[in-house]
Amino acid sequence: MLFFLTLLSPLLSSSVVNAIATASYSPISRRDISTHGTLTFTYPSQNITRATINNGPVNFVDRLFIDDILEFLTPLQNVTSSTPKIVIFDSSNPDFYLGHIDMTSLQVPITTAKKQMGADYVKFADLFQSITTTIFIAEINGRAFGAGNELIAQMDMRFVGPGARTGSFEEVLGLVAGGGGQTFLGSLLGKAKALEYLLSAKTFDGPTGETLGLFNKYYDDPTQLTQGVLQLAQRIARFPLVSINQTKSVLSYLNPPSDASKLDFQAFYDIEQFPEEQSNIRKFLQLSGNQTAGKFELGLGESVLGIYGLWNGAITP
Ligand SMILES: *[C@@H]1O[C@H](CO)[C@@H](O)[C@H](O)[C@H]1NC(C)=O
Ligand SMILES: *[C@@H]1O[C@H](CO)[C@@H](O)[C@H](O)[C@H]1NC(C)=O
Ligand SMILES: *[C@@H]1O[C@H](CO)[C@@H](O)[C@H](O)[C@H]1NC(C)=O
Ligand SMILES: *[C@@H]1O[C@H](CO)[C@@H](O)[C@H](O)[C@H]1NC(C)=O
Repeated sequence: MLFFLTLLSPLLSSSVVNAIATASYSPISRRDISTHGTLTFTYPSQNITRATINNGPVNFVDRLFIDDILEFLTPLQNVTSSTPKIVIFDSSNPDFYLGHIDMTSLQVPITTAKKQMGADYVKFADLFQSITTTIFIAEINGRAFGAGNELIAQMDMRFVGPGARTGSFEEVLGLVAGGGGQTFLGSLLGKAKALEYLLSAKTFDGPTGETLGLFNKYYDDPTQLTQGVLQLAQRIARFPLVSINQTKSVLSYLNPPSDASKLDFQAFYDIEQFPEEQSNIRKFLQLSGNQTAGKFELGLGESVLGIYGLWNGAITP
């Protein structure tokens, strides 16, 4: 009996105990799919989680997506043996990496539910910064405008393929990228370039964004994009967590001041309720066929000029 216990104890102390610890302390069991199905999870190697976005025709940011991503990110605040060192966000939709916010949530009246959705959006965006024990990488090969652009700007690194088109179209409607988009683009690009792209609502394609330092690297081949990101992630994921955490923590001094982000978010809700902005939101919903994957959504960020009759109907190449 004693013999058996002696034999068993090394086993117990490693895999069994780890499994028990994981089960009791970590809500991060290895799931395949989030509650509402807007995120699917795969595990390309130890310490790395791939979260694949899949939410409707334009991959937009709505209540369901926000719930799912909060459900995924919140437990990552507690480090356990199963906490990923790296999370790679990609998309199952070849055209839309991550869409804008559900524009109906911006239409007056701004109900308690809509306000809560906005607050939860900011909450999960903040988690990209406050969780310093996991590195968030955006692997982008599709469109990411509006909220999608804000969120990639708040992840730790961005790698892009030939289909990547990102940007803020908010100013066209008289809105602002007030969920961290403006402040983080300011930090990433510097004031002059951030103002240029935000105010004119210009699009970043892969090579442009790489030159500006917004994207870590541009790949002209989607397979090389996926392989390149995975190789980098695997290299980082070998190293001890303490240094990964310390490096991400200390570099957060380069984040925009959180007061600025908070004030901008408040300003967003004041501005977006003005009559002209509400009228533009209605036009956006009409032109986009209620946010479906037609020419308008495919044509962002130029098609949005259709609000002023300044779009020729072509899809952004
Ligand atoms: C982290 O763990 C503590 C203690 O086990 C628990 O009370 C808390 O709810 C956990 N937080 C999250 C975000 O999971
Ligand atoms: C995963 O992380 C652990 C803990 O730091 C490390 O011992 C292990 O080698 C890593 N595995 C891989 C495949 O990187
Ligand atoms: C991560 O780094 C921060 C800043 O040094 C530190 O306060 C925190 O305890 C570290 N967390 C872990 C899990 O090492
Ligand atoms: C868009 O939705 C509104 C409100 O639900 C509806 O009245 C309108 O007919 C819809 N338009 C299209 C093109 O589906």
